[in-house]
Amino acid sequence: MENKLSKWDFKNGNIKEKSLLSIRPALKTIMENLKEEEEEGSKPLIHLGRGDPSSIPCFRTSPVTEDAIFSAVRSAKFNGYPPAVGLPSTRRSIAEYLSHDLPHQLSPDDIFLTAGANQAIEVVTAVLARPGANILLPKPGYPFYEARAACSNVEVRHFDLLPEKSWEVDLESVKALVDDHTIAIVIINPGNPCGNVFTSEHLQEIAETAKKLGILVIADEVYSHLCFGSKPFVPMGVFGSITPILTLGSISKRWIIPGWRLGWIAMVDPSGVLEKSGKK
Ligand SMILES: Cc1ncc(COP(=O)(O)O)c(C=O)c1O
Repeated sequence: MENKLSKWDFKNGNIKEKSLLSIRPALKTIMENLKEEEEEGSKPLIHLGRGDPSSIPCFRTSPVTEDAIFSAVRSAKFNGYPPAVGLPSTRRSIAEYLSHDLPHQLSPDDIFLTAGANQAIEVVTAVLARPGANILLPKPGYPFYEARAACSNVEVRHFDLLPEKSWEVDLESVKALVDDHTIAIVIINPGNPCGNVFTSEHLQEIAETAKKLGILVIADEVYSHLCFGSKPFVPMGVFGSITPILTLGSISKRWIIPGWRLGWIAMVDPSGVLEKSGKK
């Protein structure tokens, strides 16, 4: 038995080591140590790193959201397997919802449903991966991207966000990183972890740079509309006619229900660039 087992050779057995998913246990230990210190009577902590608003009792999703789920469950209409890309009615609703803020109408066929934005990141990274590919990620950013890139054997190249310019993308560092194997640039807006909100002008600059470089823009907008300053949230898809955008979103943050796990990938490509190049 032992001999047989020792013949097995899982080439991807080091995924856990390669992947930054291992950051989670490390973070947990840090948080536990901090909690202990807090309990011992040192300074009270303000938890700025929390990505789950539902853990704070004063934040609760609206009764409308809860009623929608109750009636969907009671209707017994949704107990079967949905299509892999999501239920047509849900895709239609998300297309309509996102189109409110866009200069053109998305079709339900542009929307792909996922189990939260994390699965959207997983799917997009896996679909775009090819031998020797690299992806441009913001620094600082959301580490799940690094983890998924590692799992798909995609090389990560970091570009800087500039603190002195409200955490805007350093487009010069982006240009210096790109080569023929670059598959996409990821932008997170509103930003995690910096909380910045990009101006419309800056988003347009990013779109124009991506067009010049011939790379896809992946716009992570899970915090869309959660803006508390003077800058309004502008979706990257507004500039979809300049360059194709894959917008990632979910209901987790805005509706305070990260446990419900519904996200999407929206293909914002009104000029049909992806279709013409056979990527749709
Ligand atoms: C930037 C960013 N993208 C994606 C996600 C994942 O969101 P979801 O709950 O929809 O999987 C998070 C969660 O913290 C996030 O901060």
